[in-house]
Order: sequence, then structure tokens, then C-alpha cells
Amino acid sequence: MGRPKITIIGSGNVGATTAHWAAVKELGNIVLMDVVEGMPQGKALDLMEAAPVAGFDCRLQGSNAWEDTAGSHAVVITAGVARRPGMSREDLVEINAGIVRDVARQVARYSPEAVIIVVTNPLDVMTYLTYKASGFPPERVVGMSGVLDSTRLRTFVALELDISFEDVTALVLGGHGDEMVPLLRYTYAGCIPVSQLIPPERLEEIARRTRYGGGEIVSLLKTGSAYYAPGAAVAEMLEAVLRDKKRILPVAAYLDGEYGERDVYAGVPAIIGRNGVEKVLEIQLTPEELEALRSSIRSVREALARISG
Ligand code: NAI
Ligand code: 2OP
Repeated sequence: MGRPKITIIGSGNVGATTAHWAAVKELGNIVLMDVVEGMPQGKALDLMEAAPVAGFDCRLQGSNAWEDTAGSHAVVITAGVARRPGMSREDLVEINAGIVRDVARQVARYSPEAVIIVVTNPLDVMTYLTYKASGFPPERVVGMSGVLDSTRLRTFVALELDISFEDVTALVLGGHGDEMVPLLRYTYAGCIPVSQLIPPERLEEIARRTRYGGGEIVSLLKTGSAYYAPGAAVAEMLEAVLRDKKRILPVAAYLDGEYGERDVYAGVPAIIGRNGVEKVLEIQLTPEELEALRSSIRSVREALARISG
């Protein structure tokens, strides 16, 4: 079999950075798509010209034409508008809903067998709209946010303890908004629960910083939102799908009764492989954790209900 084909819709900061990480991991040939003429072509060529020195083997193509995306195994949707300072993720809803619905229909037409990874914000809402507009089975539409939120939590824990980033594992569940649920009880450093290593008030501060991690970057950058860590998080999910790794990752998955929720997308742990979301894992939560998760999911439903059409 030849290399898998990856299409990334939206070649802005997150799209291009995802392409970069995916190329370095040699996950497949990559098509960068955008409505802006020349830009995806320029970025794809520039990145491909790095291959001889960076040492990766894959082809990159920039495009403004859907035909070039045909037959993709995985499609990443980053098309839309990013947050600016003072804007909440929810402010983006109406603009991005229109874009994402159109894009999802084209993906379904040109790559009917693909797994779609949605990145556009507000994430859980856009993932649900993609599921509806594509007509795909829910397991082949998945949202990226938990991997990003968890990698932020892992980073802050590693910095706090002055230990390797590699040794920290963590889970952040719920919607990708300020009500996300960093599960400190499921956060480990070298297999040791972090509650044994970090005092409760510092842990609370780390959880708070994680919840506002996206906003922290926006307020520093001023002209856009995060893209290095988001791109790396998408590449990890692409790798899980294209290499059928059966990774357990926190992702926005379709809930059909799990955690008492139905017909909604929200962040939960799931097994990710060739078929997309292969199983949603229901882990034990305290009543408080479950209420926090369900409250965060209520916010996702409210945002969905506000969308026209
Ligand atoms: P960006 O503005 O740099 O890139 C977006 C690109 O989408 C632009 O190049 C634009 O021309 C393109 N685009 C717009 N409409 C299109 C269409 N119909 N077809 C193809 N391309 C189209 O924004 P950035 O920083 O790349 O962020 C993209 C999205 O991802 C935003 O909604 C942002 O909020 C979201 N995001 C989500 C994260 C998550 O954890 N889920 C993390 C980081 C960003
Ligand atoms: C983030 O968390 C903007 O949602 C994006 O960085």
C-alpha cells in the first residue's frame, strides 16, 4: 500500500503546523487546502523543501480545489476564524458553523471513507455539526481538544516538579471551554498520583491555568491563538488513526448514553484507531467530577441550541 493520504482543510496557523508535525512523523502524503489562493501552495512547497535536511519522506501539495483532496484516509478541519483577544470561543460559533458545514459536505463527497478530525472552535459544537453535515457514522468524526488540554496540564505538572514531560500523564474531559474538567485524580507523574507530590492549592492553580490555557496564549500572541501544541495534538491523533495504534486519548467523541449523555459530542477518554473512535471508555468518577463533566456538556448543548439553521 502507498502512503496514506491526509487532507488538512484550512492552511492557517494550526493547519500548517499540523502539516509540519505530520510530515516529521512521516504519517502520509499531505494536501493543504484553503480558500486563499497561493498560500497553501506556498506553505506546502516550503515545507516539502525542508524534507532533504529534516529527513522526512512524504509529498506535500497545496490546493484550492476539492478534487485534489479526493480519496483521503484522514481529513483535518481547521477552516474558520481563530480567537482574537476579548473573543470567547463561543463568539466564533455562527461564522465557523457556516464554514464547517460546507466543508463537511465536501469532505463527505470527495473522501467518503475518511476519518475526520475536527479542530475548528467552538470544538464540541463544530464536531457535532460536522457529524450531521457529513452524514458519516459518529465514530468517523472526532474532535481534537482533550489531547491539547491534557498536554497543557502535563506541561504545567512537569514544570512544577521539575521532571521530564514524558513522565506525566493526565486526562482533561468535558467541552473545550472554560468549564473543561482537568481530572487531577487521574494525573500521574511516573505512575505516582500527583496528589502525593504537589500540595492541593498548587494543584488547583495548575488546573485553573489549564482551563484558561488557550486564553493565556491568546493574550500573549494578541493576533491569534495557539498552534504549536494544537498541531502536535492533531498529529498524535492522526498517527493513532493512520497507524491503527488503538491509543487511549481524550477526544471529543459522540456520546450515546455514556456518562448519562446522548446525541452530543464532548471530551471523554476513547480508543482511537483506524476506524476513528473505536470505543468510548466510561471511567469511574466521583459525584463531583461527574457533575462537573455534565455541567460542561450542558454548556456545549446550550451553544449548539444557539446556532441558527
Ligand atoms: P487561522 O486563521 O490561522 O487559519 C484558518 C484558515 O482557515 C485560514 O487560512 C482561512 O483562510 C481558512 N479558511 C476559512 N474558510 C475556509 C474554507 N471554507 N475552506 C478552507 N479554508 C478556509 O486560524 P488557526 O489559528 O489555524 O485556527 C483555526 C481554528 O482552529 C480556529 O477556529 C481556532 O479557534 C481553532 N483551534 C482549535 C483548537 C482546539 O483545541 N480544538 C486549538 C487551536 C485552534
Ligand atoms: C486553544 O485552546 C484556541 O481553543 C484554542 O488554544
